[in-house]
Amino acid sequence: MSDPTPEPPLTALEQRWHEVAPPVSLDSARAMYEWMPKQRGGQLPWVDVPYDPQREQHWSDAARVADYVAHIPVGARWVLDVGPGDGWPALPVAYARPEVVVVGLDSPRRVATCEANARRLGIPNARFVAGDADALPFGDAAFDAVLASYSLEEAAEPEAVLRELARVLRPGGALRAAYQDWRLPAPEVETVLLPDGERRGERVLLYSYVRRIADPALERRYILALPSEGPAASLHTDGLVAASAAPRAFGETLLEAGSPLGAPLLERLAPHALASMCVEMRRWTTAWLVEALHEAGFREARGTVHPGDLARRAGRELIAGATAEHLGGSFEAVAGALGRATGRLDGDAMVEAVR
Ligand SMILES: C[S@@+](CC[C@H](N)C(=O)[O-])C[C@H]1O[C@@H](n2cnc3c(N)ncnc32)[C@H](O)[C@@H]1O
Repeated sequence: MSDPTPEPPLTALEQRWHEVAPPVSLDSARAMYEWMPKQRGGQLPWVDVPYDPQREQHWSDAARVADYVAHIPVGARWVLDVGPGDGWPALPVAYARPEVVVVGLDSPRRVATCEANARRLGIPNARFVAGDADALPFGDAAFDAVLASYSLEEAAEPEAVLRELARVLRPGGALRAAYQDWRLPAPEVETVLLPDGERRGERVLLYSYVRRIADPALERRYILALPSEGPAASLHTDGLVAASAAPRAFGETLLEAGSPLGAPLLERLAPHALASMCVEMRRWTTAWLVEALHEAGFREARGTVHPGDLARRAGRELIAGATAEHLGGSFEAVAGALGRATGRLDGDAMVEAVR
């Protein structure tokens, strides 16, 4: 592992944030998801909406489910999904493998959502437990497989999480993980997002600023929670209109120098804030993760391609060629075969590891 790199200085917007809305510093991104009513805007494929072969994202998700399933060892009984959010991949994997029990670990609010989704979808072999990945509430060698989809990197101390995964996996057990492979188009990328949120059943509005830094590899995410009515709501709507006209990156609105969506909007929203939070997350490349897994006690660890990315590309071609619309009931079989065929190819976008 490389030596810790000094913290980069605060951006102008970060400085202003600390002045006008001093944020509570969170240990992991887990607490931020408690403000989000639904993951992926309530459009989580298979869980919220049925598969649609005309949507590229669905090709990716169906391929990835097949890949996760293929990584569960033969004869397995207990599978852990770290950070399932609203039940992904825990629920489709449990459905595909009725002989295993999938245990999803996330924050209390997300666990409640996962449980409701499991009931609605009629999946008896998925259970959900509230907890933190860096202190797993399970005994040693309790699981045959661990799955993670974009969750491991959200803890403050990823090494502690990896040690916990090694502890709860039985010898010979398998880990399959997807994460944000940290390759930025620029040394730094700043974005804002103005989504809806929810807190204790009440609607709130959110203003989020994200700073992504290439070196040291980290992401700082700030969130301001606002009332859903009154002056803050009007300002939020104005922000949304301005954001829709601006360029995007990472599915969010790119914050360009002098943008009214930066300090000017923050200063107007701050007096109305119900809460202000900040979390810093370390990011990594596959090479870093492979080394860290070995140090955490995994016997084997290797990078693979991302089967979802390949399936998305294939889906795009099939949609453009008007082939996808004729797949009907074969969609899952075709996308799944793509996922299984590609997920074990050498690459640097996901890892598979054996304890
Ligand atoms: C980006 S979402 C991914 C959700 C889902 N796996 C998916 O792919 O759609 C990350 C999830 O991991 C959870 N999470 C983040 N840090 C965590 C931690 N330290 N322990 C448990 N869950 C965590 C969050 O609460 C959130 O639900």
